[in-house]
Amino acid sequence: MEQTLLQFAYLVASVFFILSLKGLSSQETARQGNLYGVFGMAVAIVATLFNSDVTQYDTLFVTIAVGSLIGYILAKRVEMTAMPELVALLHSFVGAAAVLVGFASDRSMGIDGGHAASALYASEVGVDVFIGALTFTGSVAAFAKLKAKFTFFKKTYWVPSKPLLLKDRHKINLGLVSISLLIIIFYAMGASGEGGVGNLFLMTALTVISGVLGAHLVLAIGGADMPVVVSMLNSYSGWTASAAGFMLNNDLLIITGALVGSSGAILSYIMCKSMNRSILSVIFGGFGGDSDVPAKVLTPEEEAELAARTVNETDAAALSETLCAAKSVVIVPGYGLAQARAQHSVYQLVKNLKSRGVNVRFAIHPVAGRLPGHMNILLAEAAVPYDIVLELGEINDDFPETDVVLVIGANDIVNPLAQEDPTCSIGGMEVLEVWKSKLTVVFKRSRNVGYAGIDNPLFYKDNTQMLFGDAGKTVDEVVAQVGSR
Ligand code: TAP
Repeated sequence: MEQTLLQFAYLVASVFFILSLKGLSSQETARQGNLYGVFGMAVAIVATLFNSDVTQYDTLFVTIAVGSLIGYILAKRVEMTAMPELVALLHSFVGAAAVLVGFASDRSMGIDGGHAASALYASEVGVDVFIGALTFTGSVAAFAKLKAKFTFFKKTYWVPSKPLLLKDRHKINLGLVSISLLIIIFYAMGASGEGGVGNLFLMTALTVISGVLGAHLVLAIGGADMPVVVSMLNSYSGWTASAAGFMLNNDLLIITGALVGSSGAILSYIMCKSMNRSILSVIFGGFGGDSDVPAKVLTPEEEAELAARTVNETDAAALSETLCAAKSVVIVPGYGLAQARAQHSVYQLVKNLKSRGVNVRFAIHPVAGRLPGHMNILLAEAAVPYDIVLELGEINDDFPETDVVLVIGANDIVNPLAQEDPTCSIGGMEVLEVWKSKLTVVFKRSRNVGYAGIDNPLFYKDNTQMLFGDAGKTVDEVVAQVGSR
């Protein structure tokens, strides 16, 4: 294919990627956004296949077939609750690919038929390998922290969500970044001038050092900050692709990488704002941040009081009576809803209540679940209409006028401690103020803590009732009871 035609096809693909991002920014248009993305990618692949520079079709088709097969099997088999781990793992593939491309470029630099060596080109290769290795190990560390439990040969191993806070960790990070920069400078100098070539030793050293940096940065981040880490890694993987684009002289890769990199960075910033975190503290692993705050030590009186605390319990029959008499109901879904796969039953409950004239809406917290937009995806899967799904900022002021709030499988996102105790791990995070409603009913299996690992005073309030059990079962029971009234 002629180069101008190829560039034109890449431009068309880029426009479709931009349209795709625009579509993905709202639930109503997300499906269409996805289709634009698929179409843009199809244009990009077909154009690349016809690129006159591509000669080894056998290798190309084998790799495309293997990649597609792995992608297909993963997408078919992954549980909704395991999506965050899968996303983290997929980011690691982008990092690994960038490192491999970097090594291939290094080997072909300055030799016959390879890329001409120059300081500029070598620094592109160095930056690509640096970001690629960092993204690879960072994503593997995030995958391990999110998965938490691994079984090898019938033995179970746990990866703690607690941050790994080494003494002088910021100095260590600074040291690793400085050494990496020095290596890139030496590498670029070696490739400049006549007879310049790559340097396998420096490339390997750079990969190891930036790999250690990536793993260390992510391991130093506390469990409660993991949402931001997932979207930061998404951003890193975009910049990695962009750097690879410069190296391969591929405009499409540069544009696509920049789109992913900047949208991931914007999402991370938005999440940091809603969790009251500084983005620098997350990037640099607890940089002067909240992970340094020691856990609050309870006095013996406080411990005794905690043990003696009682909760109000309810059951499906009593709750259905309350729901049928209510005028307004708000449902707060959380990670447990995904675990219990209760989204379809919840929507059935909504339909039953709506047919009785009850105003039912959903309140979505930005970090509910384990993935950006996790709850929106679940509700969309159950065909819940978008106009009753509201974001935190749109609904938080409505709780005082709400008769009943159903908190289904959520915990941290409705924890009043975020406002009451700035030293706790979610201190300062915006939460849904459900306790201001007339009655809150919490669906969960026990009094166990949520992801952040802290107790929730909401459970012990006078206007809170607990409906214990798997949400899949308890919601079905409430649906049946409401239906029989
Ligand atoms: P969590 O605080 O994790 O609480 C979920 C609750 O669901 C648990 O307390 C659990 O209590 C209950 N549960 C689990 N399985 C259940 C089932 N089958 N039936 C009924 N209840 C069940 O979730 P959240 O409120 O959605 O908050 C999200 C947390 O995850 C935040 O701390 C956030 O920072 C973190 N996080 C978010 C993301 C993103 S991007 N959204 C990524 C990583 C981490 P029982 O065990 O007692 O049932």
